Amino acid sequence: MRKGDNGEFMKMGLLIEVAKETKKKIKKLSNSPFRYAGGKFYARKLILECIPKHTYYCEPFAGGASIFFAKDKVRHNWLNDLDEELINCYGFIQRSPEHILKVLNGAKPSKGMHHHFKNMFKPSNNLERAARWYFLNRTSYSGIMQQQNCYFGYGDKYSMRPENWLNHLKTCSERLQNVKLTAYDFEKVINNVPDNAFLFIDPPYFNADQEKFYCCYFSKEEHYRLNRVLKKNANRIKFLLTYDNTEEIRNMYAWALTKLDREWNYVLNRTDDQKNGRKLEHGYRSNRYKGKEIFILNYEIDTSLKRFKSDDDIRRERLRSNDMEEQIPLLNI
Ligand SMILES: C[S@@+](CC[C@H](N)C(=O)[O-])C[C@H]1O[C@@H](n2cnc3c(N)ncnc32)[C@H](O)[C@@H]1O
Repeated sequence: MRKGDNGEFMKMGLLIEVAKETKKKIKKLSNSPFRYAGGKFYARKLILECIPKHTYYCEPFAGGASIFFAKDKVRHNWLNDLDEELINCYGFIQRSPEHILKVLNGAKPSKGMHHHFKNMFKPSNNLERAARWYFLNRTSYSGIMQQQNCYFGYGDKYSMRPENWLNHLKTCSERLQNVKLTAYDFEKVINNVPDNAFLFIDPPYFNADQEKFYCCYFSKEEHYRLNRVLKKNANRIKFLLTYDNTEEIRNMYAWALTKLDREWNYVLNRTDDQKNGRKLEHGYRSNRYKGKEIFILNYEIDTSLKRFKSDDDIRRERLRSNDMEEQIPLLNI
């Protein structure tokens, strides 16, 4: 070793340690097993910043549960959604993810295969129901599962490729261990969570044509019913509710402690079913939109906290990992 080499060597060691520490501090958020219309993927950072300390976590309107998968897991967790097909699929991801792929038997995303699983394949048991649901979710435009609007929407350049499905399902399965899964109406869930539980509440939108996206959707009266149930439970639980930012919603929740206007960017990939011109299989094509919502909380927060990566960082990371999630503009499908 020459004179001076030892000093350089130590400097290098120090730099490696600092890099390791920095890496540890940047949180890697994990992703939902599903693509989900109205999912909160691009708003995760903003939502995570507002979540208070808790030991019991619940999502009464879980959908793709992108917040559950992104946040730190706590001791007790409950995911609920009225959509039984979705919850049945979560159940198999939790218990035996590899069986889902065994049923799919190497099926590759294509219009023909999408048509097969959507219209021809008749599941004879719950595992087959789960496999059908999973395949259609991964290969449909924006993960929209509502029968009339469930179109083929897979593109190699931005969708998760089938060779990555198993690993991703296994990661999700680990996260889902010991999580309570139910397909109840939200009222039963909110009335039954224990005192001091924290609930992330993401109901169907108030003004959007939500019956186009979801198999289970809301009438106006149900938005008012949710408001009554939350008010009744407000002093024994903490909740963060997200909604489209309308005057009626603001008035309805005049009683809640904190309201935050929030905006984020998101990307929408267009399939050839939606747009003429260059087709998905010929490359990636996207438009940028702005999500604008109101967060309604029954507790106070320190809004100066910023612990997570920016939306653009997250988007770049997902592009690199070939797993872009699509989101649909609220009023314009
Ligand atoms: C906006 S989505 C939730 C999206 C989710 N936060 C995500 O990140 O993917 C609303 C969900 O509410 C569910 N839903 C509709 N009516 C319901 C009800 N009465 N009780 C429970 N869930 C319901 C729908 O099936 C849908 O999955």
